[in-house]
Amino acid sequence: MEKKIVIGNWKMKLTVEESVKQAKQLKKLVTGKLAKSVDIGIAPDFLSLPLVSQILKNTGVKLGAQDAWSEDFGSFTSQISPVNLKYFSCHYLILAHSERRQFAHEDYVEVNKKIITALKNDLTPVLCVGETFDERKEGRKDLVIMQQVQTALKGVDIKPEQNLIIAYEPVWAIGSGQATQPEEARHTALIIKQSLIDVLEGADLPLVKILYGGSVTPENIESFVKTKEIDGALVGGASLEAGTFIELIKKSVL
Ligand code: PGA
Repeated sequence: MEKKIVIGNWKMKLTVEESVKQAKQLKKLVTGKLAKSVDIGIAPDFLSLPLVSQILKNTGVKLGAQDAWSEDFGSFTSQISPVNLKYFSCHYLILAHSERRQFAHEDYVEVNKKIITALKNDLTPVLCVGETFDERKEGRKDLVIMQQVQTALKGVDIKPEQNLIIAYEPVWAIGSGQATQPEEARHTALIIKQSLIDVLEGADLPLVKILYGGSVTPENIESFVKTKEIDGALVGGASLEAGTFIELIKKSVL
């Protein structure tokens, strides 16, 4: 089995002091062996990011950011430059998280530009896709996912040295304590792969990894990652406390 990827998304849930405390705990708990067996990532809020970056240096835990702008620099008040994220050793860049789609009205046309800029800056985009409860009820889930993937990746050229991650996160499963069925996540991963074939003509598809996200816990992680179609997990709530997050990461080693 290939090495799995587990990325924690701290959202806007911790104070700077709490982020520092959890990062220090993580540093204590992550063994070299664990960091070699799983690709581990943490995406703190922007203000904690420089401090967390310093603490996690040389631990094998990679840093992630929760968004970035679609250009390197310019007159974009309040935005975050991907170039400056690289300065703080960011590796992953979460894009189009459902909370940004919902609260910041982000759409996949804008996300498309962000992906191109992120790749150019040597960041690994973690593109979030997923249906709402209503879209699911109306039987439109697969179509919605296909459209999200295809709009976000239109014209994107992935070079052999670049990586792309797609996180399938059903909106209704996020923070609800109710994860989707592993079989359904597997089915959706196949739908995503099919969409990738259509949109990334000629790209090396094994370079694209697929994660599941939405109420992942130490208890259910194994049921998702044991299928070869799912390369890991994007974790919110269960990543906020270092001990729980480490327990979850250990369960993803098959
Ligand atoms: P959750 O969040 O694990 O708390 O459901 C996942 C996410 O929003 O990425």
